[in-house]
Amino acid sequence: ATHTTVMEKDCSSITPPYSLLLEKLDRVRELLGNRPLTLAEKILYSHLHDPERSLGDGKKLVRGETYLQLSPERVAMQDASAQMALLQFMSAGLPRCAVPTSIHCDHLIQANVGAEPDLRHSIESNKEVFDFLESASRKYGIEFWRPGSGIIHQIVLENYAAPGLLMLGTDSHTPNAGGLGLLAIGVGGADAVDAMTGTPWELKAPQIVGIHLTGQLNGWATPKDLILHLAGKLTVKGGTGRILEYFGPGVFNQSCTGLATVSNMGAEVGATTSTFPYTPNMRAYLHATGRAPVAHAADEAAAKGFLRADEGAEYDEVIEINLSELEPTVNGPFTPDLATPLSRFGSFVKEQGWKDELSAALIGSCTNSSYEDMTSVADLARQAKSAGLKTKVPFLCTPGSEQIRATMERDQVTDVLQDVGATVLANACGPCIGQWKREDKKGEENAILTSFNRNFKSRNDGNRLTMNFLASPTVVTAMSFSGKLSFNPMTDSIPLPSGGEFRFSPPSGQDLPSAGFAPGDTSFYPKPMPEPVPETEVIIRPDSQRLEYLQPFPSHFGEGNPRGLELPSLKVLMRVRGKCTTDHISAAGPWLKYKGHLTNISENLLITAVNDEGGEVNIAFDHDHDPSQSEIDTIPGVAKRFKARKQPWALVVDENYGEGSAREHAALQPRFYGCAAIIARSFARIHETNLKKQGVLPLWFVNKADYSKIGAGDVVETLDLADLFQGVQRETVTIKVTKRNGETYMIPTRHTMSADQLRWLRAGSALNYIRSQIKS
Ligand code: F3S
Repeated sequence: ATHTTVMEKDCSSITPPYSLLLEKLDRVRELLGNRPLTLAEKILYSHLHDPERSLGDGKKLVRGETYLQLSPERVAMQDASAQMALLQFMSAGLPRCAVPTSIHCDHLIQANVGAEPDLRHSIESNKEVFDFLESASRKYGIEFWRPGSGIIHQIVLENYAAPGLLMLGTDSHTPNAGGLGLLAIGVGGADAVDAMTGTPWELKAPQIVGIHLTGQLNGWATPKDLILHLAGKLTVKGGTGRILEYFGPGVFNQSCTGLATVSNMGAEVGATTSTFPYTPNMRAYLHATGRAPVAHAADEAAAKGFLRADEGAEYDEVIEINLSELEPTVNGPFTPDLATPLSRFGSFVKEQGWKDELSAALIGSCTNSSYEDMTSVADLARQAKSAGLKTKVPFLCTPGSEQIRATMERDQVTDVLQDVGATVLANACGPCIGQWKREDKKGEENAILTSFNRNFKSRNDGNRLTMNFLASPTVVTAMSFSGKLSFNPMTDSIPLPSGGEFRFSPPSGQDLPSAGFAPGDTSFYPKPMPEPVPETEVIIRPDSQRLEYLQPFPSHFGEGNPRGLELPSLKVLMRVRGKCTTDHISAAGPWLKYKGHLTNISENLLITAVNDEGGEVNIAFDHDHDPSQSEIDTIPGVAKRFKARKQPWALVVDENYGEGSAREHAALQPRFYGCAAIIARSFARIHETNLKKQGVLPLWFVNKADYSKIGAGDVVETLDLADLFQGVQRETVTIKVTKRNGETYMIPTRHTMSADQLRWLRAGSALNYIRSQIKS
């Protein structure tokens, strides 16, 4: 099933419904008083679930403050994060996904010796996960991209991205798709499940940073250098809560795939996502990837004023960049915002006292494996080859997709790379996500150059001493022939064995293949929008240690709760001191392999949290222990005891509880052990919503000092929930605290539950509520 010419695609499910979007946008414009809008605003607001409800009755829309209820049009998930998302989706009991959804097997594939054996080995070792994902995909009509088909973001760009679309992906580099002028946002599984079940998805209206591009990239400077330079300017936090919207003439002379690289690494400055106005290069890319109907529809939508900012649109900040002045940049080590211009990099290395030695060069990944990237590096490889040079260090190349791999092969890019010493790895994440079985340099300080996007410690080879520097694929390639960090390919030459000197000419690549993209093995391509096959049995082995069906959480208000519409009496498990991020609540690292197994992963609950009573980490006190047990145990240990006793419980926590990520495990795990309420000095908003989705009631202390008044073993009881359930509007919920010595007092708390969220709480979880709606 191998094809060498471009494959025209069925575009019915991938063309955005532009007339509907434009209609909605007109309604929003009216509600907003017809002020000029940025492109990002147009895309967001045309996807409002119910514009009148969000913006009617004179409601204000303040960027950075107002919460928007949105209806994303598509979901993409990678194999690691898809597991819990699917398990949750399954527990909602719907027969199919509410929006087109795809799953991509890329993260679980380990790079070792080369594409084929690595793929075979990874399929074997992850068989049960892949079988589960595939069978669930079949059952629910999800497009399943099996191992070897490519990396999620490259496949999305080649197949699903379309100008003006709003999509979610369960991976932080989902914004890569922004290269086609849309908003693609990286989220946790619980948010993806919102879109998959047709529940409005909530986002705080981001601020919009305008990035005005003038001039033109030239010589060795590439789109990668633009984002590396910008990362240096904005730092890793500069984009938080903001969308980066590029505009100006400098957008139009860059390739669509180049813009995707820029958008991909917006994640490195913490941006919600990045986007660009629709350009002729985007149109050309849509045509080249077999999506002419999407291009035509986008042309029409653009003619009606969509797909670009309005004249006079206001940005929260504007950054000016003249592309003509940009030079190649090298970022790192250990953080993507430490940017050094290439011309200064050699002296930087010297100043730091690092060895002037490169130990490996890696190109490709979701960030940089476009045809343009690959033909540019092939040009350098050809130049070096004709001088008789080979790379001096291991040189690994990860094609982003089967389409790229096959096109590289057909156009002799692969040959020339292999001739100079490259190893071509499987079409998967591989070393970019640490799936690199590196045998050399273990425990040694060494420096690698990659064209990837992240470079924190241990990211690539698990060695904390490996310094990872990020650069464009051409700079990485050129430096691999020198083997020295101080080598500047723009000015320096490499001595030849024959005695002469070799100097690179600036690389030249080709934006799109003149013979079209070769799809390669077409059996990798799933049918667009497959019909669900409801009789499919979802494969989870009963003895599996990695996957487990998610049992619906019981409602707190059923039989066995004598308190009726109030939560049952809750025992306080502990008072958490200080910073408690989603990483403290549900640690990553070795626990990641249990992402699809709630019982196993829950063993890590709060294991790095500090107990305010005693100040120790992962210590909790069980004041009701039976004689065979000690009073002290780990936090998950005590949580398990409570669960065994059917004792519902509460946590008392400090400021900004649950900051960090959208990781839904951080809400699922306490709920799994029987947590029903968390009382905080304050919550991180995303985590607070995740708790509500899982049926945990978040309450805020009205007086922050009350935090210290509740301790482990105390009993807390809500007094005003029944009112809320009966439609009484009130902002506070009084809780009655009974201390262990019998003393009692009242503490005022605040709630943020909407009417919908109260329904979730009553049902036991959002998914329980959805299931009850289907039944009725
Ligand atoms: Fe992410 Fe790298 Fe894969 S950024 S999607 S791990 S290629």
